[in-house]
Parts: sequence; structure tokens; C-alpha cells
Amino acid sequence: MIEARPLGLSPKAFFGIRFACGCRILLSRFCIFVSMVTAKRFFTLEGIDGSGKTTQIDMLVAALEAEGYSVVKLREPGGAKISEGVRALLLDPAFKGVMGDKTELLLYNAARAQVIHEIIQPALDAGKVVIADRFAWSTYAYQGYARGLGADMVQRLTEITCGGCFPELTVVLDIDVQRGRARTAKRGEAPDRLEQEKADFFERVRQGYLAAAREYPDCVSAIDADRAPEAVFADLLQLVKSRL
Ligand SMILES: Nc1ncnc2c1ncn2[C@@H]1O[C@H](COP(=O)(O)OP(=O)(O)O)[C@@H](O)[C@H]1O
Ligand SMILES: [Mg+2]
Repeated sequence: MIEARPLGLSPKAFFGIRFACGCRILLSRFCIFVSMVTAKRFFTLEGIDGSGKTTQIDMLVAALEAEGYSVVKLREPGGAKISEGVRALLLDPAFKGVMGDKTELLLYNAARAQVIHEIIQPALDAGKVVIADRFAWSTYAYQGYARGLGADMVQRLTEITCGGCFPELTVVLDIDVQRGRARTAKRGEAPDRLEQEKADFFERVRQGYLAAAREYPDCVSAIDADRAPEAVFADLLQLVKSRL
């Protein structure tokens, strides 16, 4: 097997090189994300820190509830007690330089498996709308792209973790890394382990998200988040409503 490293390559070039190298499972792997069974009424927001996920999710929940939808909101990693425990491990600055990339990948998936089992699937089964602040596309962008573990490894794990519980639509809030950082700096909170990464890491994360939107337009839409909250929200609401 060729180690999958999409870094610096467009996904097309990345998969193309793998094909040229005779990787027989290329097509089946390539199709995992696009062929995932998506769950109706399941939406996720993605984007680097400071892109406005929390702000927009709060607006979205309020708007949908005002229309009579029953909405479950959660953040990832987290949303269930076990998943919040895993979150504490993942974000603890004490593990900077200690936690291995594969450990990180597996812990994110462990937290996700639990919140699907305990919260998301039961809510969807009950006909509720589920809105998550980060989900599998974070893993694609952060661990697959920015850490360099590769789309292939991330996709195989996502299939195991999510099964048929994959969001119908993911909206990526796209913003320049420095602009996002300027926003979070105003919060005045100590950065967690991931937030302590350097700007070039977040640039790769951003590129990972944009690649996801280019390659999987049926389930990932990127919108310009460097606008007034109301302008961003108008686009977000329109996208979500088109799938409800
Ligand atoms: N569209 C926007 N324009 C300017 N500032 C914003 C906008 N959206 C959010 N903010 C502010 O930027 C900071 C980060 O927003 P937040 O929603 O917490 O982002 P995230 O959850 O993606 O980290 C907050 O202080 C928030 O009030
Ligand atoms: Mg937030």
C-alpha cells in the first residue's frame, strides 16, 4: 500500500497518482464518502476556529425551532458524557507533542461513535433535526489533510464509525486563517492543544475543507464566512432549508 498523503496535492492529483501506482482499491476508497448513506435532517457545520460555527449554529437552531422543528444541537468531539471525556483528552495542552497522530484520529472516531450511538441516531429515529458543530469532515481536514494521515485512512475509519449516520449536508464556513485567529483572540481564552498549532497547520485545514467542498459538492458546501453574521446566516439557512 502507498501511504496516502494528500498534502500539497489537489484531491484529484492525489488520487490520480495513487491510480498510476496501481492501487487496486482506489475506486472503492474514492467512493466511500460520496457513497455514504446520508441521514436526512442531519446537518453539520465546519470551519477553522473563529469561522463562526457557534454563532451560526445558535442562529440556525433558533430559526428552525421557531418554525416548529425539534432540534438537537451538539458539539464534536463531545455531546455525550463518554465523548466529552475523550474531548478532554484530545484537547488537553499537556499532551502537546505527546499524542500520536493515529491516536488522535482514533480518539476522534471513538468520541464520534459514542455520540452517534447515544444521541444522534436516536434523535434522527425520533424525527428530530440534528445539528453538529464539527463532525467527520473535521477529521478529513485536520487529521487527513493537515496531519497528513491521508484521505484513505480517514475514509476507512469514517465508514466504520458512521455507517449510515452521515450528515445530509455539511456547510463549511470559509475564512482566512488570520481573520479567524483575530476573532478568537478577542475571546481571551487559553488555547487548547489543537488551537496551539501554527498558522500553516490551519492553512492546510482550510485547504482540506475547500477540497472536500470541491470534490463532494452533493454533501459539502463552502460559504464565505468573512461577512456580517446575518449575511452568512442567510446563505446557511437557504442551504439547510433546501434539504429539509
Ligand atoms: N460574521 C462574523 N463577523 C464578525 N465576528 C464574528 C462573526 N461570527 C462570529 N464572530 C465572532 O467571532 C468569534 C468567533 O466566533 P465563533 O462563533 O465562536 O466561531 P467558532 O465557533 O467557529 O470558533 C466570536 O467572538 C464571535 O462573536
Ligand atoms: Mg465554537
